[in-house]
Amino acid sequence: MSNRQAVLRALRDAQGAVVSGESLALRLGISRSAVAKHIKALKDLGYEISAVTGSGYSMATAPDLPLPSEVAALLGEPMWVRLEGGASTGSTNDDARKLALEGCPSGTAVLAARQRKGRGRFGRTWESPEGGVYLSAVLRPQIALADLAPIALVISVGVARGLRRLGADAKLKWPNDLVIGSRKLSGVLVEVSAEVDQVEWVVAGVGVNVRPISGRVEGAAYLEDVIGEQEQLRLPVVAAAVLDGMASAYAHFERDGFEALRAEYESLSTLAGKEVVVRDVAGIVCSSGRAFGIDGLGRLLVEDSSGEKMALSAGDVTLKSAR
Ligand code: BTN
Repeated sequence: MSNRQAVLRALRDAQGAVVSGESLALRLGISRSAVAKHIKALKDLGYEISAVTGSGYSMATAPDLPLPSEVAALLGEPMWVRLEGGASTGSTNDDARKLALEGCPSGTAVLAARQRKGRGRFGRTWESPEGGVYLSAVLRPQIALADLAPIALVISVGVARGLRRLGADAKLKWPNDLVIGSRKLSGVLVEVSAEVDQVEWVVAGVGVNVRPISGRVEGAAYLEDVIGEQEQLRLPVVAAAVLDGMASAYAHFERDGFEALRAEYESLSTLAGKEVVVRDVAGIVCSSGRAFGIDGLGRLLVEDSSGEKMALSAGDVTLKSAR
């Protein structure tokens, strides 16, 4: 734990009571002016801390931001070894990719409460205003590229576990959307660097709509629509739930392969047994028929009206009845 985190821990543990600057300095083996510097840095991050002349500091509130110090305190899974960010950035996927290239360990995650250049699948823009949680994880699976095919579905199952733990009845729409009814609650963007026989790194990015603070994005669902308890809507709580869900699904996948998660994916799928139309990145229909499952590579299985069966590895799906 860094000295700054130790100062924060002491203020948090005091639950609003005054903590003396001198005792903090003694406990951490630093000067009182170093303590004051940490207090200033915490205030700059949005912590509401007041200085009580001659006696010390007391903390009233922590900011509703997915700051590493806040999220780390809520995590249950030990997989997350390094957390970064927490406020605003260009794209957490870009930040995570940079860290991956610099050699960061598996289990590193970058967090944000706003992105200026959020990216979605197929090079689309991912609107990332305030009121969402945006995060990207660096993973280094010890497997061959061919075995990585279903990774985006694995991450989606993990995000679903996290959001469901918060009380949202989130379902999966192949390949990696999380939806409430027909509205999108969360999206997953996975980027990979690999040689044929060894994966170097995976960056798994997740965006979750929490509250429509600056207006609703068309077609979006928000956690606030379906979760009544305010505490569950705090951004650090949402971020920790998502990271924990991702860690548990990823550990499951690393240990037992996608087969172990396939039934869970299918039980949460909104497409099972439905008539669907699948389009490619250019919007051209590449398949239509009845979706009847997911195979071991994470491909969507579709049977057309002539009985021909196809396994699709990418595309945008719409329900026939929804168009
Ligand atoms: C999609 O549905 O198209 C995927 C959206 C993924 C968005 C997340 S937000 C965090 C991470 N950073 C990005 O720039 N994109 C992903």
